[in-house]
Amino acid sequence: MKKFKLLLAGSVLAIACMSALLANINEKKEETKSLRSVPKMDRWETKNEEFRKLYPRQYDSWKKTRNSDDIGDMLKEYPELVVLWAGYGFAKDYNAPRGHFYAIEDNRNTLRTGGPVDAKSGPMPTACWTCKGPDVPRLINEVGEEEFFSGKWAKYGSDIINPIGCVDCHNPETMELQVNRPHLKRALASNPDLINMEDATQQDMRSLVCAQCHVEYYFKKVKTAAGKKAAIVTLPWAKGTSVDDMEKYYDEINFKDWTHKISKTPMLKAQHPGYEMWMTGAHGRNGVSCADCHMPYKNEGGIKYTDHNIGNPLDNMDNSCMTCHRVSEASLLDNIQRKKERKTELHKDAMEVIAAAHLEAGKAWELGATKEEMAPVLMDIRHAQWRWDYAVASHPAFFHAPEETLRVLATAVKLGGEARLKLSKILAKYGAIDYKVPVYSTKEEAQKVTNLPFKKLIDQKMKFRNGLLKEWKKEAEEKGIYNPKSTEMVKDKTSYGQ
Ligand code: HEC
Ligand code: HEC
Ligand code: HEC
Ligand code: HEC
Repeated sequence: MKKFKLLLAGSVLAIACMSALLANINEKKEETKSLRSVPKMDRWETKNEEFRKLYPRQYDSWKKTRNSDDIGDMLKEYPELVVLWAGYGFAKDYNAPRGHFYAIEDNRNTLRTGGPVDAKSGPMPTACWTCKGPDVPRLINEVGEEEFFSGKWAKYGSDIINPIGCVDCHNPETMELQVNRPHLKRALASNPDLINMEDATQQDMRSLVCAQCHVEYYFKKVKTAAGKKAAIVTLPWAKGTSVDDMEKYYDEINFKDWTHKISKTPMLKAQHPGYEMWMTGAHGRNGVSCADCHMPYKNEGGIKYTDHNIGNPLDNMDNSCMTCHRVSEASLLDNIQRKKERKTELHKDAMEVIAAAHLEAGKAWELGATKEEMAPVLMDIRHAQWRWDYAVASHPAFFHAPEETLRVLATAVKLGGEARLKLSKILAKYGAIDYKVPVYSTKEEAQKVTNLPFKKLIDQKMKFRNGLLKEWKKEAEEKGIYNPKSTEMVKDKTSYGQ
């Protein structure tokens, strides 16, 4: 009972703090309105450094995202990923996210975007630029969505050059928050249960600007009015935003991101449904926005402004958490650590069981299993992996939405187990009851199991970086959309060491 009362007191406090914060935000909104009167910047100024003159505090704090520059090679940490994504780009290269400042750099350096030699070559479509910077809304405004989403990634190498910045979240004429990407507006309109853009409050906007990128999406293949093929970024929200709703959406349209190289499963790749997961957690449900934690207010010589150094709020708990929470930092950290451990346990179980299912399915095909026999197995693998990926690709969902993360991971483990049970019967039927999946414990060993030509990928990439990429930068400078000084001193960092 005592514990309950304490909890209740805690909640009341948190709610009281929320109201104070909301009042704060409204006050800030008034201040921003007064900034609005004179248009100061061009609507499509995408060079972030141009904003420094007018907004030095916001700019300088934004630029600090540059300090988060560590490369976390996820394939090295979890070699199972190479098997889970066999035949798909993510098996080539996949790092933990780092500062927004590196969005363009990382997109050009990742082995996933390959080594194009001209505007028409390379493995990826233009859609792979969508979440990388302010030149994207500028171009969509200029050429229209259909044209923007047709052609290869390399088509826009000298046009999309500035990393995630001011025009991604603001209208520079007024500095009001603004959703600049049509795919989010379309997605919200596709489902009456979601926020109506016209009714969005300032507090909603403080999350919606992030939802332009930190969401689940797929590339919808269409033929454009001009007769071109396009791959248009689309959010699968028409039936809802839960893992189950989106699974139904994809199943009904028979969508697949790729066919798994070993198990031949029609796979789904979850992107990063961070916004969707956050909505289900304690903070999302209570209206605590992304910006409340990731962009807290800061005081500098009596001037209050929004800290634009978006990173890990735990590095800045005083401003990010302690405005609402009254327990000690240590006890909050301890609570979060335990949430992470619970997630990691199920996360590992899920990867292990699904990776084994892919390899066993590969063996079953090799022994002559039929399509009819394999169909139910492949459906289990598809759903299991989608669920595992949804829970872990929506970066730290273990914190943003702990219960939902555990539920989704539990269903992944269950479905993976069901696939393996069915497979054991098929393998027995074809005389391989004792089949053991190959053992691998490093990224390199996993690459061998899946026949990934890693060296060749690096060679192609280095040719691109020493050739075409240099031309892109020169052309962008000539077009007046890139200032090479803005990326001076930036050292290339990659997972493949070059
Ligand atoms: C990822 C989204 C995002 C990016 C990128 C971004 N901002 Fe902001 N900005 C915000 C949010 C959220 C607020 C808070 C708005 C509010 O509720 O008052 C804000 C507020 C502001 C304000 C209002 C005053 C204040 O400090 O609250 C200014 C001015 C501003 N930003 C300038 C910039 C500049 C300049 C850049 C580029 C260097 C930039 N912003 C990049 C999201 C962003
Ligand atoms: C235009 C797309 C876009 C928008 C808008 C955006 N992000 Fe990001 N965000 C990314 C990408 C891409 C990365 C990964 C960058 C990399 O690793 O190179 C990232 C990385 C991050 C990281 C990891 C930073 C680190 O240092 O590890 C955080 C935290 C984050 N975003 C939060 C937010 C929040 C909060 C908002 C809204 C206020 C937001 N983002 C808006 C695309 C976006
Ligand atoms: C209550 C505070 C809070 C809210 C609200 C919140 N976050 Fe976070 N976020 C965190 C914390 C804390 C972490 C780091 C957790 C960890 O890894 O230890 C984090 C981490 C992240 C990361 C990953 C950084 C990385 O390097 O892996 C991204 C991306 C991110 N948040 C995006 C968002 C988005 C988008 C929203 C809104 C839809 C949001 N967050 C809402 C507290 C919050
Ligand atoms: C704007 C206010 C606000 C901010 C900022 C905020 N929280 Fe919360 N937090 C809440 C509210 C409200 C709840 C829900 C309380 C309830 O359910 O009674 C909550 C719940 C929690 C919980 C328990 C819920 C769960 O998911 O298990 C944890 C842990 C937590 N917050 C940690 C943090 C951390 C860490 C930060 C900073 C990164 C933070 N919070 C920032 C308001 C806030």
